[in-house]
Amino acid sequence: MAQRTTLIAGNWKMNASGEMAEVLTDGLKAWAGKPGVEMLVCPPFPYLGPVGAMIAESDIKLGAQTCHANASGAHTGDVAAEMLADLGCSYVIVGHSERRADHGETDSDVCAQAEAAHRAGLCAIVCVGETEAERDEGATLSVVTDQLAGSLPEGSPATSLVVAYEPVWAIGTGRTPTNNDVQDVHAAIRGLLCERFGNEIGNGVRLLYGGSMKPTNAEGLLALQDVDGGLIGGASLKAEDFIGIADA
Ligand code: PGA
Repeated sequence: MAQRTTLIAGNWKMNASGEMAEVLTDGLKAWAGKPGVEMLVCPPFPYLGPVGAMIAESDIKLGAQTCHANASGAHTGDVAAEMLADLGCSYVIVGHSERRADHGETDSDVCAQAEAAHRAGLCAIVCVGETEAERDEGATLSVVTDQLAGSLPEGSPATSLVVAYEPVWAIGTGRTPTNNDVQDVHAAIRGLLCERFGNEIGNGVRLLYGGSMKPTNAEGLLALQDVDGGLIGGASLKAEDFIGIADA
């Protein structure tokens, strides 16, 4: 069976200040580490440089929350994957449901961003997940299947791709699917990846669960067979909680 390093990723979203970023990063540096567990922080763009400098000598990885598909050009306010790599990022989240909702990003936009990440040598964390209405209609698997089909670039190496399953209704709400439901969706995603990219890549890609993960529910979620880590929003803003999840 493929050995997959657990990835505990903090998505700070549009939170923190310069001071808070410093205090939080300092707190995270106290993490003793755990064999087979990788810790990643994804601060807002303005704090990538300072946070990156603070964690340069540690095992903590740096990532961004989105990138533009192009390497350069007339795209006011956007940031290229190459610039993120330049700043020391090794990961970038693409297609988060908040990007899809706030900026109208489509599956093909997300696919282009993931391609850009690969072009720049970054690992793309591609997010998918159903809304509450879609879940109520029993459409979870078909929604996730369609999103994956449209959002994943061809020829993604397993080491450059992570898929995050984030039910939209579980994000920031304190609600989560049952562990069984999470495992069912993750197993389906694993099956789709194997079908499309072959078993070696499909079994090598890490699948993160995201949506109200916290120290109290992390152990159960992270113990699931096809859950290889978490994408954590709210609980990544407190060093104690985030470390608690990484240790779970
Ligand atoms: P949450 O966010 O942990 O605050 O629910 C997760 C995410 O949106 O990545």
